[in-house]
Amino acid sequence: GISVMSHGYFQHGGVTFPGLLYSPRSLEAAREFPVEDDDVFNVTYQKSGTVWMLEILSLIRQDGDPRWCRSVPNWDRGPWLETLLGLRRARANARPRIISSHLPVHMFPKSFFGSKAKVIYTVRDPKDVLVSLFHFARIFRPYRDPGSLGDFMDKFLQGDVPFGSWFQHVRGWLQLRGRENFFWISYEELQQDLRGSVQRLCSFLCHPLSPAALDAVVTNASFAAMSHNPMSNFSLSPGFILDQNRGPFLRKGGDTWGHPGDWGQWDIGDIQGIGDIGDIGDIGDIGVL
Ligand code: A3P
Repeated sequence: GISVMSHGYFQHGGVTFPGLLYSPRSLEAAREFPVEDDDVFNVTYQKSGTVWMLEILSLIRQDGDPRWCRSVPNWDRGPWLETLLGLRRARANARPRIISSHLPVHMFPKSFFGSKAKVIYTVRDPKDVLVSLFHFARIFRPYRDPGSLGDFMDKFLQGDVPFGSWFQHVRGWLQLRGRENFFWISYEELQQDLRGSVQRLCSFLCHPLSPAALDAVVTNASFAAMSHNPMSNFSLSPGFILDQNRGPFLRKGGDTWGHPGDWGQWDIGDIQGIGDIGDIGDIGDIGVL
Protein backbone atom coordinates (compact mmCIF):
# COMPACT_ATOMS: atom_id res chain seq x y z
CA GLY A 1 0.00 0.00 0.00
CA ILE A 2 1.01 3.60 -0.45
CA SER A 3 0.88 6.13 2.33
CA VAL A 4 1.22 9.87 2.43
CA MET A 5 4.66 11.45 2.00
CA SER A 6 6.20 12.57 5.25
CA HIS A 7 9.50 14.44 5.52
CA GLY A 8 10.26 13.49 1.94
CA TYR A 9 9.87 9.75 2.58
CA PHE A 10 7.01 7.50 1.54
CA GLN A 11 6.09 3.88 2.18
CA HIS A 12 5.62 1.30 -0.55
CA GLY A 13 5.32 -2.45 -0.10
CA GLY A 14 5.95 -1.94 3.60
CA VAL A 15 9.32 -0.32 2.89
CA THR A 16 10.53 3.30 3.23
CA PHE A 17 11.72 5.22 0.17
CA PRO A 18 12.88 8.82 -0.31
CA GLY A 19 10.57 10.84 -2.55
CA LEU A 20 13.47 12.44 -4.41
CA LEU A 21 14.51 9.80 -7.02
CA TYR A 22 11.86 7.20 -6.14
CA SER A 23 8.09 7.27 -6.43
CA PRO A 24 5.23 4.77 -6.20
CA ARG A 25 5.13 5.01 -9.98
CA SER A 26 8.80 4.13 -10.40
CA LEU A 27 8.43 1.19 -8.01
CA GLU A 28 5.36 -0.10 -9.84
CA ALA A 29 7.18 0.28 -13.16
CA ALA A 30 10.09 -1.74 -11.73
CA ARG A 31 7.69 -4.45 -10.60
CA GLU A 32 6.23 -4.64 -14.13
CA PHE A 33 9.62 -4.41 -15.88
CA PRO A 34 9.88 -6.93 -18.74
CA VAL A 35 12.97 -8.98 -17.90
CA GLU A 36 14.97 -10.58 -20.73
CA ASP A 37 16.58 -13.98 -20.32
CA ASP A 38 20.08 -12.57 -20.82
CA ASP A 39 19.70 -9.79 -18.20
CA VAL A 40 22.19 -9.81 -15.33
CA PHE A 41 20.92 -8.19 -12.14
CA ASN A 42 23.33 -6.72 -9.63
CA VAL A 43 21.31 -6.83 -6.41
CA THR A 44 22.31 -5.66 -2.94
CA TYR A 45 21.09 -4.08 0.22
CA GLN A 46 22.56 -0.57 -0.16
CA LYS A 47 26.18 -0.01 0.90
CA SER A 48 27.09 -3.67 0.42
CA GLY A 49 29.37 -3.23 -2.58
CA THR A 50 26.88 -2.43 -5.38
CA VAL A 51 29.16 -0.24 -7.46
CA TRP A 52 32.11 -2.55 -6.87
CA MET A 53 30.13 -5.50 -8.23
CA LEU A 54 28.87 -3.30 -11.05
CA GLU A 55 32.48 -2.55 -12.02
CA ILE A 56 33.38 -6.25 -11.89
CA LEU A 57 30.37 -7.22 -14.02
CA SER A 58 31.09 -4.39 -16.48
CA LEU A 59 34.67 -5.57 -16.86
CA ILE A 60 33.70 -9.22 -17.27
CA ARG A 61 31.17 -8.22 -19.95
CA GLN A 62 33.98 -6.45 -21.83
CA ASP A 63 36.52 -9.29 -21.35
CA GLY A 64 38.66 -7.12 -19.09
CA ASP A 65 38.81 -4.17 -21.48
CA PRO A 66 38.43 -1.06 -19.27
CA ARG A 67 37.32 1.33 -22.04
CA TRP A 68 33.60 0.98 -21.33
CA CYS A 69 34.18 1.60 -17.62
CA ARG A 70 36.30 4.64 -18.41
CA SER A 71 33.89 6.23 -20.86
CA VAL A 72 30.39 5.57 -19.51
CA PRO A 73 29.21 6.46 -15.96
CA ASN A 74 28.43 3.42 -13.86
CA TRP A 75 24.79 4.48 -13.45
CA ASP A 76 24.38 4.16 -17.24
CA ARG A 77 26.31 0.87 -17.50
CA GLY A 78 24.21 -0.79 -14.81
CA PRO A 79 21.24 1.51 -14.24
CA TRP A 80 19.14 1.35 -11.09
CA LEU A 81 15.87 -0.40 -11.76
CA GLU A 82 13.84 1.45 -9.13
CA THR A 83 14.24 4.94 -10.60
CA LEU A 84 12.40 6.12 -13.72
CA LEU A 85 15.64 7.38 -15.25
CA GLY A 86 17.33 4.07 -14.54
CA LEU A 87 14.42 2.14 -16.03
CA ARG A 88 14.50 4.23 -19.16
CA ARG A 89 18.21 3.64 -19.49
CA ALA A 90 17.85 -0.09 -18.88
CA ARG A 91 15.29 -0.28 -21.69
CA ALA A 92 17.67 1.52 -24.03
CA ASN A 93 20.87 -0.37 -23.17
CA ALA A 94 22.36 -3.00 -25.48
CA ARG A 95 21.99 -6.61 -24.41
CA PRO A 96 23.20 -8.39 -22.46
CA ARG A 97 22.18 -5.73 -19.93
CA ILE A 98 23.49 -5.20 -16.45
CA ILE A 99 20.80 -3.79 -14.15
CA SER A 100 21.36 -2.77 -10.54
CA SER A 101 18.78 -2.87 -7.78
CA HIS A 102 18.39 -2.46 -4.04
CA LEU A 103 14.83 -3.68 -4.07
CA PRO A 104 13.77 -6.35 -1.59
CA VAL A 105 12.80 -9.58 -3.32
CA HIS A 106 9.06 -9.06 -2.87
CA MET A 107 9.27 -5.85 -4.94
CA PHE A 108 11.46 -7.28 -7.74
CA PRO A 109 10.13 -7.52 -11.33
CA LYS A 110 7.48 -10.24 -11.50
CA SER A 111 8.76 -11.40 -14.87
CA PHE A 112 12.15 -12.28 -13.38
CA PHE A 113 10.73 -15.27 -11.55
CA GLY A 114 9.75 -17.10 -14.71
CA SER A 115 12.87 -16.07 -16.62
CA LYS A 116 16.42 -17.33 -17.07
CA ALA A 117 17.83 -13.90 -16.14
CA LYS A 118 20.57 -14.05 -13.51
CA VAL A 119 20.75 -12.37 -10.13
CA ILE A 120 24.02 -11.73 -8.34
CA TYR A 121 23.34 -10.86 -4.73
CA THR A 122 26.18 -9.30 -2.72
CA VAL A 123 25.89 -9.29 1.07
CA ARG A 124 28.10 -7.39 3.52
CA ASP A 125 28.65 -7.52 7.26
CA PRO A 126 25.74 -5.43 8.58
CA LYS A 127 28.01 -3.61 11.01
CA ASP A 128 29.96 -2.23 8.05
CA VAL A 129 26.73 -1.57 6.14
CA LEU A 130 25.49 0.47 9.08
CA VAL A 131 28.63 2.60 9.31
CA SER A 132 28.82 3.04 5.54
CA LEU A 133 25.12 4.00 5.38
CA PHE A 134 25.57 6.44 8.25
CA HIS A 135 28.24 8.29 6.27
CA PHE A 136 26.31 7.98 3.02
CA ALA A 137 23.15 9.45 4.58
CA ARG A 138 25.16 12.58 5.34
CA ILE A 139 26.16 13.14 1.69
CA PHE A 140 23.18 11.70 -0.22
CA ARG A 141 20.62 14.50 -0.42
CA PRO A 142 17.51 12.34 -0.86
CA TYR A 143 18.16 10.84 2.61
CA ARG A 144 17.45 12.47 5.90
CA ASP A 145 20.40 13.48 8.02
CA PRO A 146 21.19 10.40 10.14
CA GLY A 147 21.70 12.29 13.41
CA SER A 148 23.94 10.47 15.86
CA LEU A 149 25.26 7.01 15.07
CA GLY A 150 23.44 5.63 18.11
CA ASP A 151 20.06 6.96 16.99
CA PHE A 152 20.73 5.86 13.45
CA MET A 153 21.68 2.38 14.64
CA ASP A 154 18.30 2.03 16.36
CA LYS A 155 16.54 3.00 13.14
CA PHE A 156 18.72 0.60 11.13
CA LEU A 157 17.93 -2.28 13.47
CA GLN A 158 14.22 -1.51 13.25
CA GLY A 159 14.37 -1.30 9.45
CA ASP A 160 13.29 2.34 9.68
CA VAL A 161 15.67 3.46 6.91
CA PRO A 162 15.34 3.71 3.13
CA PHE A 163 15.05 0.26 1.53
CA GLY A 164 13.93 -1.16 4.85
CA SER A 165 15.46 -3.80 7.06
CA TRP A 166 18.84 -5.33 6.21
CA PHE A 167 17.66 -8.50 7.91
CA GLN A 168 14.51 -8.85 5.82
CA HIS A 169 16.38 -7.97 2.64
CA VAL A 170 19.07 -10.60 3.17
CA ARG A 171 16.68 -13.24 4.45
CA GLY A 172 14.30 -12.63 1.54
CA TRP A 173 16.92 -12.80 -1.18
CA LEU A 174 18.84 -15.73 0.27
CA GLN A 175 15.68 -17.80 0.02
CA LEU A 176 16.53 -18.00 -3.67
CA ARG A 177 19.69 -19.98 -2.88
CA GLY A 178 19.83 -23.20 -4.84
CA ARG A 179 18.18 -21.73 -7.93
CA GLU A 180 20.28 -22.09 -11.05
CA ASN A 181 19.99 -18.38 -11.89
CA PHE A 182 20.83 -17.07 -8.41
CA PHE A 183 24.38 -16.46 -7.16
CA TRP A 184 25.34 -14.88 -3.89
CA ILE A 185 28.69 -13.69 -2.63
CA SER A 186 29.93 -11.52 0.22
CA TYR A 187 31.75 -8.21 0.11
CA GLU A 188 34.27 -9.82 2.45
CA GLU A 189 34.97 -12.61 -0.05
CA LEU A 190 35.54 -10.03 -2.77
CA GLN A 191 38.06 -8.37 -0.49
CA GLN A 192 39.82 -11.55 0.53
CA ASP A 193 40.02 -13.15 -2.90
CA LEU A 194 38.97 -10.89 -5.76
CA ARG A 195 40.53 -13.07 -8.44
CA GLY A 196 38.86 -16.23 -7.16
CA SER A 197 35.57 -14.34 -6.80
CA VAL A 198 35.77 -13.14 -10.40
CA GLN A 199 36.43 -16.71 -11.52
CA ARG A 200 33.36 -17.94 -9.65
CA LEU A 201 31.30 -15.14 -11.18
CA CYS A 202 32.57 -16.01 -14.66
CA SER A 203 31.54 -19.60 -14.31
CA PHE A 204 28.09 -18.59 -13.03
CA LEU A 205 27.73 -16.18 -15.96
CA CYS A 206 29.05 -18.78 -18.46
CA HIS A 207 31.54 -16.12 -19.52
CA PRO A 208 35.05 -17.66 -19.42
CA LEU A 209 38.02 -15.27 -19.41
CA SER A 210 41.66 -15.79 -20.35
CA PRO A 211 44.17 -15.37 -17.49
CA ALA A 212 45.17 -11.96 -18.91
CA ALA A 213 41.54 -10.79 -19.07
CA LEU A 214 41.02 -12.02 -15.53
CA ASP A 215 44.04 -9.99 -14.40
CA ALA A 216 42.61 -6.93 -16.15
CA VAL A 217 39.28 -7.31 -14.34
CA VAL A 218 41.04 -7.59 -10.98
CA THR A 219 43.30 -4.59 -11.64
CA ASN A 220 40.54 -2.31 -12.94
CA ALA A 221 38.04 -3.20 -10.21
CA SER A 222 40.46 -2.36 -7.37
CA PHE A 223 39.50 0.36 -4.90
CA ALA A 224 42.40 2.50 -6.17
CA ALA A 225 41.44 2.14 -9.85
CA MET A 226 37.80 2.90 -9.14
CA SER A 227 38.64 5.89 -6.94
CA HIS A 228 40.58 7.42 -9.83
CA ASN A 229 37.95 6.73 -12.47
CA PRO A 230 35.41 9.60 -12.69
CA MET A 231 32.97 7.18 -14.33
CA SER A 232 33.07 5.00 -11.22
CA ASN A 233 33.69 7.30 -8.26
CA PHE A 234 30.50 9.43 -8.55
CA SER A 235 32.52 12.65 -8.87
CA LEU A 236 30.25 13.45 -11.85
CA SER A 237 27.14 13.20 -9.67
CA PRO A 238 25.22 16.48 -9.53
CA GLY A 239 25.53 18.37 -6.25
CA PHE A 240 21.80 18.26 -5.62
CA ILE A 241 22.06 14.47 -5.37
CA LEU A 242 25.44 13.98 -3.70
CA ASP A 243 27.08 16.58 -1.45
CA GLN A 244 30.68 15.54 -1.91
CA ASN A 245 31.97 18.45 0.15
CA ARG A 246 31.08 16.26 3.12
CA GLY A 247 32.99 13.20 1.92
CA PRO A 248 33.59 10.92 -1.06
CA PHE A 249 31.28 8.11 -2.17
CA LEU A 250 34.20 5.68 -2.31
CA ARG A 251 34.95 6.28 1.31
CA LYS A 252 37.16 3.58 2.73
CA GLY A 253 36.31 0.15 1.46
CA GLY A 254 37.07 -1.36 4.87
CA ASP A 255 35.74 -4.31 6.78
CA THR A 256 35.65 -5.77 10.24
CA TRP A 257 36.88 -9.18 9.14
CA GLY A 258 40.25 -9.46 10.76
CA HIS A 259 40.71 -5.68 10.67
CA PRO A 260 39.81 -3.16 13.36
CA GLY A 261 37.74 -1.25 10.76
CA ASP A 262 35.20 1.42 11.42
CA TRP A 263 33.25 -0.72 13.77
CA GLY A 264 36.06 -0.83 16.35
CA GLN A 265 36.59 2.89 15.98
CA TRP A 266 33.07 3.60 17.16
CA ASP A 267 33.55 1.19 20.06
CA ILE A 268 29.98 0.01 20.07
CA GLY A 269 30.86 -3.63 20.32
CA ASP A 270 28.27 -6.08 19.14
CA ILE A 271 24.99 -4.60 18.07
CA GLN A 272 22.26 -6.27 20.00
CA GLY A 273 20.40 -8.35 17.49
CA ILE A 274 23.29 -8.54 15.06
CA GLY A 275 26.09 -9.89 17.17
CA ASP A 276 29.02 -11.55 15.46
CA ILE A 277 27.68 -12.97 12.25
CA GLY A 278 30.63 -15.32 12.20
CA ASP A 279 31.33 -17.47 9.17
CA ILE A 280 29.64 -15.68 6.31
CA GLY A 281 29.06 -19.04 4.68
CA ASP A 282 26.59 -19.89 7.43
CA ILE A 283 24.77 -16.59 7.25
CA GLY A 284 21.42 -18.20 6.57
CA ASP A 285 21.73 -20.48 9.55
CA ILE A 286 22.51 -18.03 12.30
CA GLY A 287 19.88 -16.98 14.75
CA VAL A 288 19.47 -13.38 13.71
CA LEU A 289 18.24 -14.37 10.26
P1 A3P B 1 32.56 2.24 2.80
O1 A3P B 1 31.58 3.36 2.99
O2 A3P B 1 32.65 1.32 3.98
O3 A3P B 1 33.90 2.72 2.35
P2 A3P B 1 27.48 0.57 -2.40
O4 A3P B 1 28.16 0.60 -3.74
O5 A3P B 1 26.58 -0.62 -2.23
O6 A3P B 1 26.84 1.86 -2.09
O7 A3P B 1 28.62 0.32 -1.32
C1 A3P B 1 29.56 1.32 -1.05
C2 A3P B 1 30.68 0.73 -0.23
O8 A3P B 1 31.49 -0.13 -1.06
C3 A3P B 1 31.60 1.80 0.33
O9 A3P B 1 32.02 1.30 1.61
C4 A3P B 1 32.70 1.79 -0.71
O10 A3P B 1 33.90 2.34 -0.25
C5 A3P B 1 32.83 0.30 -0.97
N1 A3P B 1 33.55 0.00 -2.23
C6 A3P B 1 33.27 0.47 -3.46
N2 A3P B 1 34.18 0.02 -4.34
C7 A3P B 1 35.05 -0.75 -3.66
C8 A3P B 1 36.22 -1.50 -4.02
N3 A3P B 1 36.69 -1.54 -5.28
N4 A3P B 1 36.85 -2.18 -3.04
C9 A3P B 1 36.40 -2.16 -1.77
N5 A3P B 1 35.31 -1.45 -1.37
C10 A3P B 1 34.64 -0.77 -2.31
